[in-house]
Amino acid sequence: MSEPVKVLVTGAAGQIAYSLLYSIAKGDVFGEKQPISLVLLDIEPMMAVLDGVVMELQDCALPLLADVIPTSEEAIAFKDIDVALLVGAQPRREGMERKDLLKANVKIFKSQGAALDAHAKKTVKVVVVGNPANTNALVISRFAPSIPKENFSCLTRLDQNRAQAQVANKLGISNENVQRTIIWGNHSSTQFPDLAHAVVHVNGKLMPAQEAIKDDNWVKNDFIKTVQTRGGAVIKARKLSSAMSAAKAICDHVRDWWFGTGERWVSMGIISKGDYGISEGLMYSFPVQIATDRVVKVVPGLTISDFAREKMDVTQAELVEERDCAFSFLEA
Ligand code: NAD
Ligand code: LMR
Repeated sequence: MSEPVKVLVTGAAGQIAYSLLYSIAKGDVFGEKQPISLVLLDIEPMMAVLDGVVMELQDCALPLLADVIPTSEEAIAFKDIDVALLVGAQPRREGMERKDLLKANVKIFKSQGAALDAHAKKTVKVVVVGNPANTNALVISRFAPSIPKENFSCLTRLDQNRAQAQVANKLGISNENVQRTIIWGNHSSTQFPDLAHAVVHVNGKLMPAQEAIKDDNWVKNDFIKTVQTRGGAVIKARKLSSAMSAAKAICDHVRDWWFGTGERWVSMGIISKGDYGISEGLMYSFPVQIATDRVVKVVPGLTISDFAREKMDVTQAELVEERDCAFSFLEA
């Protein structure tokens, strides 16, 4: 057996973590032969709840779970970690927009950035889930200057999965028969779920998704709106934000980063290097492919229509505004 991979999950007493921890510990992400050391960070008032989570992890009697370290101290939590899954944040409640959360959450990610910089392995892979995910990821990267910018990401895989499921449902095919759905931009209601490059397998034939759907109005209106507002719809129904589907998307994101995507395209928030005219330095979701060396590359050469350009710019503008607002709180 190899050395355990040390994985930090923050917000470990929360509802996403409750699904996520079990999946990681049983081998869904790093493989069925890879031992895991789990570090669980939450705030001090949640330590009693976290004790219960630790008891349950023990009671699962999982062969791969080498170690569980619950803590409320960032210096312990970030020590020598290989992977940081930053879920802990204040979740959005019904009626709130993500920008309302900026003020509280930038403080958390500034402090965690300093801890990451001081204590984590320099190869650490960071996934920010806590909202506003793109901007929180930008903040933490700013405060961890010794970690390469390529090691930071934010989760838009849930949006990609939602888009894929909408198309599969529309065509009455299984999810695995829908590929190359893209999420551009912010994990927010301005995101652009794009089907222009998506392909589907229908009756054994591979074809462009839009040709199979044959309903431009659905593609340009209903589909985009449904994916953009799905998080809010779940909150309205559950009175809590998505947790099971978020945990599943985190597993998809990390597994693909760890092992590579092969020919598949996946969407993730990464720091822009200027691809597709997106402002350099912004944490923006792109379609990417990941090789087995874990280097993330934006899918090159896609044709961008005027319709797509406009939508990509709208979500970019929101991210610029969020970034400026976040950094103004930090300077205040
Ligand atoms: P939750 O309230 O159930 O759990 C959040 C946990 O984070 C709590 O236990 C809380 O005590 C903890 N926490 C707060 N501040 C912390 C800190 N400084 N350090 C460590 N832990 C801290 O929330 P949840 O439903 O698990 O959601 C977590 C976050 O994920 C929210 O911001 C939510 O909006 C976001 N989210 C993102 C996506 C996505 O696709 N990017 C999807 C779903 C939810
Ligand atoms: C989601 O997409 O489900 C989460 O980000 C929750 C939200 O605030 O929309």
